[in-house]
This record gives sequence, structure tokens and C-alpha cells, in this order.
Amino acid sequence: MSGNRPLLRAIVALVVLALAVSALFLIDSAAAYPWIKAFHIIAVISWMAGMLYLPRLFVYHAGSKPGSEQSETFKVMERRLLRAIINPAMIVTWAAGLWLGWHGFGFDAGWLYAKIALVLILSGLHGYLSASVRRFAEDRNEKPARHWRIVNEVPTLLMIAIVLLVVLKPF
Ligand code: HEM
Repeated sequence: MSGNRPLLRAIVALVVLALAVSALFLIDSAAAYPWIKAFHIIAVISWMAGMLYLPRLFVYHAGSKPGSEQSETFKVMERRLLRAIINPAMIVTWAAGLWLGWHGFGFDAGWLYAKIALVLILSGLHGYLSASVRRFAEDRNEKPARHWRIVNEVPTLLMIAIVLLVVLKPF
């Protein structure tokens, strides 16, 4: 049963995302646009904060002894950060972003597709970090601190490109 848990969680996340997008698509008013954009930006900030902090925790966790008090504390911090902040923030970012893309641009803009492609990569990284939380929780991490330092830079680079695309809309 515990082997099916990640799959179950992924299905629950997809169902919640589908419900959130459907609920948002029932709202169709110009007045709602700035509100949804504000929620999108709030969710983006929360998602990015978590995506930058989690690999930083892994850097320290990778250097602590399995079974030590410090290692157990990192496990709790990582699990809570993922479940309470990163996962819900990603769902709200996607739901609000898709709504904005539809109501603001009819999904007809080159920069929007480039942005979505980069957000898909960011979401893939989210999946990798989420699986890594599980590996750390079971004391199965084999990657050195240097690996997590490098991983820590990836969301920063993606975020810079994503923000430039949405603000400058170069194509
Ligand atoms: C697939 C998910 C996403 C979609 C479909 C999406 C789509 C959009 C759209 C259509 C807008 C409105 C642009 C406008 O009104 O000019 C917007 C705003 C914005 N998005 Fe996203 N977005 C997504 C994820 C993200 C992510 C991951 C980030 C940052 C890392 C981000 C950062 C922003 C920012 C900063 C704005 C405000 C731009 C402005 O008002 O000039 N978005 N997004």
C-alpha cells in the first residue's frame, strides 16, 4: 500500500488542479482579471520560495549523519515545506496562470507557449524534489551536498527566463 502512495498523491494533485481550473473557468469577468493575476503572483512567490529553500535544506541534510537528531529535524522541515507550501502553491500558480492565459490572450501568444514550456520543466524539477524528500525521509539519499548546490541554481535560472518572457513578451 505504501508503494502506491506517491501515485495516489499525484492523482489527488491532478484532480485538485482540474477542479481548481474548472472552478476558475466559471468566472468570466474583466473585473476578475487583476484579482486572479494578484493570486497568481502570490502563488508564484510562495512556490519559488519553497523551490529555492528545499534544495538548500538538502545541502545541509546531505551533510548530516543519518539517524541523528539534526537529520530527523530536516526530515520534518522538508515534509512540511513540501506539503504545506510548495504543492498547494504550484496548483494555484498553474490554475490561475491557465485562466489568465485563456481570458487574457486566448492561448494565442508565442511567449505564453515558451513560458508554459519552461513552467513544465520547473514542474518536472518539483517532481524530482518531491521524490527526493521521500528518499531523504528513508535515509536513501546518495547525492553529495555539491549536487544539491547545483540543483539549487536551476529554479533561479528558470524563474529569470519565465519572468522576462511574461513581462517583455518578446514574441
Ligand atoms: C503554466 C503556468 C503559468 C501560466 C499559464 C502563466 C500565465 C500567465 C499570464 C497569462 C499572465 C498575465 C500576463 C499579463 O497580464 O500581461 C501571467 C502573469 C505573471 N506570471 Fe505567470 N503563468 C504561469 C506560471 C508562472 C510562473 C511559474 C511564474 C514565475 C516563476 C510566473 C510569473 C508571472 C508574473 C511575475 C506575472 C505578472 C506579469 C505582469 O503583470 O506583467 N508565472 N502569467
